[in-house]
Amino acid sequence: MFSLSLQRKGIDTQMKIQIINGPNLNLLGKREPSIYGKGDFPSFLENLRRRYPQDELLYFQSNSEGELIDKIHEVGFGKADGIVLNAGAYTHTSVALLDALKAVETPAVEIHISNVHQREEFRHKSLIAAACVGVICGFGLDSYRLAVEALREASIG
Ligand code: DQA
Repeated sequence: MFSLSLQRKGIDTQMKIQIINGPNLNLLGKREPSIYGKGDFPSFLENLRRRYPQDELLYFQSNSEGELIDKIHEVGFGKADGIVLNAGAYTHTSVALLDALKAVETPAVEIHISNVHQREEFRHKSLIAAACVGVICGFGLDSYRLAVEALREASIG
């Protein structure tokens, strides 16, 4: 596991942040808009990149657990400074994702668009949170921005 030593960074710090979206998150904007909103992710990401022009915000989405694990392995040893992970339903089920996050060096923030604690009980449990530096949920798409902000504010390593 990573050790936690927080060191504040200036706001102009250049960072490479890998955003990873798991299953069904390719349908944002169409999928249950009363829960996940009407905004599509590509437009949101464009705005986010405009907001952080000094940083590199990389994006990957997959509906397959193995591909999410492969991406974590790929960026988790020096290729990114931080990971923003919305693992979707795999959050609640995947020991394999937990192990992948434990295996790599790059700090990850678990995020959710919805407040999972206000929803069905099976969504209250996260199997991956223990391997993340923090968890943000319930702020709509802004949860991603808050996670980017958290990673920019703190260099963890
Ligand atoms: C989600 C919450 C999960 O419980 C759900 O399975 C998702 C999306 C969210 O962003 O609110 O797919 O991760």
